[in-house]
Amino acid sequence: MLLGCPLASCGSDKAVTAIALPVGWDDGVRLAAPVDRDSDPSVPEVNLEARVATLPILGEVTTSVWTYGGTTPGPLLRARKGDRLTVHFANNLPEASTVHWHGIRLPAGMDGVPGHTQPAVPPGGTFDYSFVLPDAGLFWYHPHADSARQVGYGLYGAILVEDPDEPRDLGDQVVLVLSDMAIDPDGSIVEPDPDDNHQILLGREGDTLLVNGRVRPTLLARSGRRQRWRIVNAAKSRFFQLALAGHKFTRIGTDGGLLEAPDAPTEKVLIVPGERADLLVTPIGAAGDTLAVQFVPYDRGFGPTMEGPERALFYVNVVEDGESAAGHAPLPARLRTIAGIDPVGATERDISLTVGTDNERIVMGINGVPADKAPALPAALNQTDVWTIVNTVPFDHPFHFHGFFFQPLDPVTGAALASPTWRDTYNVPAMATVKVAVHYDERPGMWMFHCHILDHADAGMMGMLLLK
Ligand code: C2O
Ligand code: CU
Repeated sequence: MLLGCPLASCGSDKAVTAIALPVGWDDGVRLAAPVDRDSDPSVPEVNLEARVATLPILGEVTTSVWTYGGTTPGPLLRARKGDRLTVHFANNLPEASTVHWHGIRLPAGMDGVPGHTQPAVPPGGTFDYSFVLPDAGLFWYHPHADSARQVGYGLYGAILVEDPDEPRDLGDQVVLVLSDMAIDPDGSIVEPDPDDNHQILLGREGDTLLVNGRVRPTLLARSGRRQRWRIVNAAKSRFFQLALAGHKFTRIGTDGGLLEAPDAPTEKVLIVPGERADLLVTPIGAAGDTLAVQFVPYDRGFGPTMEGPERALFYVNVVEDGESAAGHAPLPARLRTIAGIDPVGATERDISLTVGTDNERIVMGINGVPADKAPALPAALNQTDVWTIVNTVPFDHPFHFHGFFFQPLDPVTGAALASPTWRDTYNVPAMATVKVAVHYDERPGMWMFHCHILDHADAGMMGMLLLK
């Protein structure tokens, strides 16, 4: 029941929502809802079938994509903090696959990494995932087998975990899954060439930008009424930088839920692959105006033109404002308190992100060693680590850690930041160093870390931590 609840009518205040929102304001980006198998709303239990489907992504022609449940993105899974989510996964793809639950602090055996936490699920096979959702936030799911290809074919979906105790009425909420796809004009997917060093080095991007699987969809708005955009960057390589002329974004949350306080409003927001952003934006315009949310190329080391030109990603239509544009309650100055991880006395761990060649093939690695040749790094339960991550490469790498959130520290001094945040995917800029603190709780097992440019991960920029 909870899982199937459409976003627009799920707000914290139904009466206000009914007056202030244009009817169907988010229909243009509506994500599929799963079928909840359980009648108890606190026990979200769903079927998730991976299969090939033919979808009219480009409009006139159809594209054969890989989906969860027949749509890309797959169904939006919804639950409340503390719920146990059970997913009966069936693989009806032509290849083995798994499901990784990006950002969720689950037991290692549920983490979906083939060969390390579970066997790959063969075509025709099934696997039951079941775990408690300890944190509120926007999370996502994707395969962890041949991930650049499988994610590039359309396999990803979002999980929204809500906390009934969070501040109310932050904005009318919508989940936006950003991605891209490489599609030829005839509708066929461009097959990645495994020997193309240049493509591996850059990370493959698709020219077709997608918002919830659509090309340039439209949201409706009433001028002056605040919206809350819960965004995940599910692209295999593309960095999404967004701007909306004449407007500012206020970031209120990251991977691991709300910030302590809203960030200062900014004109542009960068969301790196794998990362999530919880943004407030108040569209302002006259009835009939169309506002274009722009994709703005970000220079991740190859110059600002590699991602193609700046262009519209989606539109916001300001509808005729019959009623007054009922505003929301003022934004609270304080959203929550985050306990800082104390880095003093932590175990120091230094890694570098590296690129080299082997027989003229690009090999990426951690400390010069590709994932398949690197032994797991040992760590102890309840240990606190400070990771110093040195990017030796003149382009950015978004660093992702499975199963645990970390807190960025001052990159120079290693001191805790005044306002800690919970991250699982964090950009390490070209030739830069970042420091993060992570506390391992009591979940033993193999935990992966890697660059979330999935071509880089597949080329070897991954490692394992063995926690016991
Ligand atoms: Cu979304 Cu191993 O990652
Ligand atoms: Cu990378």
